[in-house]
Amino acid sequence: MNAAVPRPVIPLPFDLERIRADFPILAEPVRGGRLAYLDNGATTQKPESVLRAMDHYYRHQNSNVHRAVHDLAERATTAYEAARDRIARFFGAAREEIVFTRGTTEAINLVAYSYLLPRLKAGDEILVTGMEHHSNIVPWQLVAAQIGARVVAAPVTDSGELDFDAWRGMLNDRTRLVAVGHVSNTLGTINPVEDMIREAHALGIPVLVDGAQAIAHLAVDVRALDVDFYASSAHKAYGPTGFGTLYAKRGHLEAMQPWHGGGDMIRTVSFEGSTWNDIPYKFEAGTPDMAGAIGFAAALDYIEAQGLDAIAAHEHALLEEGTARLTAIPGLRLIGTARRKGGILSFVMDCAHPQDIGTILDQSGVAVRTGHHCTMPLMQRFGIPATVRASLGIYNGSDDLAQLEAALHKVNRLFT
Ligand code: ALA
Repeated sequence: MNAAVPRPVIPLPFDLERIRADFPILAEPVRGGRLAYLDNGATTQKPESVLRAMDHYYRHQNSNVHRAVHDLAERATTAYEAARDRIARFFGAAREEIVFTRGTTEAINLVAYSYLLPRLKAGDEILVTGMEHHSNIVPWQLVAAQIGARVVAAPVTDSGELDFDAWRGMLNDRTRLVAVGHVSNTLGTINPVEDMIREAHALGIPVLVDGAQAIAHLAVDVRALDVDFYASSAHKAYGPTGFGTLYAKRGHLEAMQPWHGGGDMIRTVSFEGSTWNDIPYKFEAGTPDMAGAIGFAAALDYIEAQGLDAIAAHEHALLEEGTARLTAIPGLRLIGTARRKGGILSFVMDCAHPQDIGTILDQSGVAVRTGHHCTMPLMQRFGIPATVRASLGIYNGSDDLAQLEAALHKVNRLFT
């Protein structure tokens, strides 16, 4: 049987209780009590429809893709390529422009090695910002070091915004690429990527946007952005771990050499030399993650069934409520108060180290991330070793914020 995977039927307007019922793990008791899952920046939970789509794939469609003519192979290939169409539609891209990767990190590394490295000369610069995740710094450093190029970072203001004028002043004829996070994973800052792309393009400089923290929270249209490369991960958007995509303009993909060699990325192979498959397959060596692609497509169905505008409005209201609740707590300081912000509340407290705060919060069923959040240069910028980060998702509500607030009062009672 190859029945179509049932699609979620979600009534609009935004119905929080109905949405929560779609995520089985939210009913899981933690430390013997209610879970307030506020670690969505690290990874999101998965709705039934995603779990079902992946289960359905393994039960009814599993086989290798692009290789055999038997029935299961056809089912797997059809489902896998339908997922590519779905994902391309989400981004406003053509299917050939969507390369499947293991996630944002691999997508950025692909651009670093396949696009940038062959074009890089000694003295060239890759311009990033001071709030980038390590995955949008280290790949550039690795390729820069091979050539004698360097990574330069534009400053971040005290409120956690990009100093745009300083950034613009750092663009020059040595800048080979601009790379920027759409939404900062630590601060929540929404960067002005539209303006950055326009400014960079005026000087002929391509732009990569790290969309890991964006795609589940705000609408992204790669054509409207005119972005050159857009990287993202399924697991931060209610899809499976280990899967992601790189959007790249067709002309870039056609000009780029493959990075990983292996099956499916070739057209012909001989000992005299090999030739490459069409885009995007040229960049997809080896058996791919079929269930990952199908799960991601189901996650995007889920997101679009709610509507990104409704999600953004819901999360923005929660962000405002959370900001008010946290700023009223004695000794708590928010890190990241940008005017345009996604649903991230990073903070430090006078009375305790973030690690200890995280432990107390966990005892109260509140899941947050503590540490440097893979943004060590940003920690240095603010002169702190770490923060506590509560990051919002579609299923969070006032009750989660109240649970967080109560647990933070407990921290104050315990440590002061
Ligand atoms: N990049 C993920 C985070 O910010 C893991 O937590």
